Amino acid sequence: MPILNRAHEMQAEVAEWRRELHRHPELMFDVHRTAAFVAEKLKAFGCDEVVSGLGRTGVVGVIRGSRGAGETIGFRADMDALPIKEMTGKDYASTVPGKMHACGHDGHTSMLLGAAHYLAETRNFAGTVVVIFQPAEEGGGGGREMVDDGLMDRFGIARVYGMHNMPNLPVGQFSIRTGPFFAATDEFRIRITGRGGHAAWPNQAIDPIVTGAQIVQALQTIASRNADPVSSIVVSVTQFHAGSAHNVIPEEAEIAGTVRTLSPENRELGEERLRALAENIAAAHGATAEVMWRRGYPVMVNHSAESDICAQIAREVAGEAAVESDARPLMGGEDFAYMTEARPGAMILIGNGPSAGLHHPAYDFNDEIIPLGISYWAALAEGNGKAA
Ligand code: NI
Repeated sequence: MPILNRAHEMQAEVAEWRRELHRHPELMFDVHRTAAFVAEKLKAFGCDEVVSGLGRTGVVGVIRGSRGAGETIGFRADMDALPIKEMTGKDYASTVPGKMHACGHDGHTSMLLGAAHYLAETRNFAGTVVVIFQPAEEGGGGGREMVDDGLMDRFGIARVYGMHNMPNLPVGQFSIRTGPFFAATDEFRIRITGRGGHAAWPNQAIDPIVTGAQIVQALQTIASRNADPVSSIVVSVTQFHAGSAHNVIPEEAEIAGTVRTLSPENRELGEERLRALAENIAAAHGATAEVMWRRGYPVMVNHSAESDICAQIAREVAGEAAVESDARPLMGGEDFAYMTEARPGAMILIGNGPSAGLHHPAYDFNDEIIPLGISYWAALAEGNGKAA
């Protein structure tokens, strides 16, 4: 099934929804306006069931097919924006100071709404499609909250699928891989306590800055000396705060950053080595290091059978040559990880064409790709059970 004529017909209307959402970005779980917009549309399309308030502000729509019994599959979009000041200069730019849709979640939500509209009016599929709109993808774990709130069991979801746009992947192309696709994203903070004093008598102080500098250097050896060289781990120190005067050795220094990994082994290794290096280097200098480690999203793993289904559906929609099925993994995080931990599933990337990168103030979702996204979802629903 190539791009649907109906999806082309819907393009202008869906782009209008997208721009409406773009004008009114909301953060994390605080997506009340967006969730109300989504729920109202799903009801108007005639979904069999519309449930709001799942995972705090998530919305779910149930659409039963007319082609007989079959599996229930979940299609997921995200609704939240970012705390970024928009610089696109578009006439539909954010009207909320300091907030913008800089990751295209406005586009994801609109494309899935378009697909829901199509599927509710045609019903040309077996089984049931559950459309899932989640809050707080950008670090809040909205996906986890929806799963914890019973998403999979309550709606009987057997498999779950996601889609994210990708800047600079050409329009008309899709990209996917089997296995780890997005990284586990953990955060750390190290508080080093020494002994403050006069900068002229360092012998009477314990300098947390010198200690901290050595810790920053030593953390580079986690990737270069500890991890399996053919595996992936990123250790980035992104903050170093200490001191307030040129002639005072401060009492404390604080270092913070992120560790990103594609395997549970490297995730354990990263935490274990970071703690050992920080605590022991501090001890060697007579200082102490207190390590705070916050686990973020787990690795987002695409399951093999579902990735194959997605790649096949994308080829049917966009053509053989338009689908990359062995994409490189990305070291960014993706909250969809909790959904593919709960059920077999896969996420695909859809080309956004030449554009500023995700999370950049000049980024904009490309409305041209709307018919492709809708057609992909529709084909996945109509092909459910056939390809598996
Ligand atoms: Ni995103």
